[in-house]
Amino acid sequence: MEITLVILKPSAVQRGIMGEVISRFEKKGIQIVGMKMVELTDEILSEHYSHLAEKSFFGRIKDAMRVSPVVVMALKGLDVINVVRKLAGVTNGRDAQPGTIRGDYSMSVQENIIHASDSPQSAEAELKRFFSENEIFNYSHHLLPYLYANDEI
Ligand code: PPS
Repeated sequence: MEITLVILKPSAVQRGIMGEVISRFEKKGIQIVGMKMVELTDEILSEHYSHLAEKSFFGRIKDAMRVSPVVVMALKGLDVINVVRKLAGVTNGRDAQPGTIRGDYSMSVQENIIHASDSPQSAEAELKRFFSENEIFNYSHHLLPYLYANDEI
């Protein structure tokens, strides 16, 4: 099983759709193994978006992530990194397919509701960045027999 990092951005928090977005993950059969509301610092955002440091929107995206608290989530499931990226839809909400989170809730590249890790390497680094070890829980998911076949897990 994989674990991935999702951030409900200020666009989700301010618009009052946190519950709807979280509900999509739950209904898909993804297990929430960590979740908290936090105010991000410029320092942690500079690290998180370091691959965008040369982009013109680097300062703007960091500021946008600080206009309100965000919710960070650790989500667990089979191939969950890929599954969550598909549920999210493409980065630009205007291009994202209807039925995806961004396709249904976003009209923007920046105000695009969630961030989701894009690879096993980034999931590992991003989970460490936002969670301490004791904030990610290992608990049995009683619906597992109804979510997966025996040979899948
Ligand atoms: S992704 O989803 O990470 O693959 O998307 P990517 O295209 O690599 O973009 C990375 C993050 O940069 C944000 N972004 C922008 N913000 C403001 N203005 C512009 N033009 C812009 N282009 C990309 C995008 O929302 C991604 O944020 P995160 O938090 O990683 O989803």
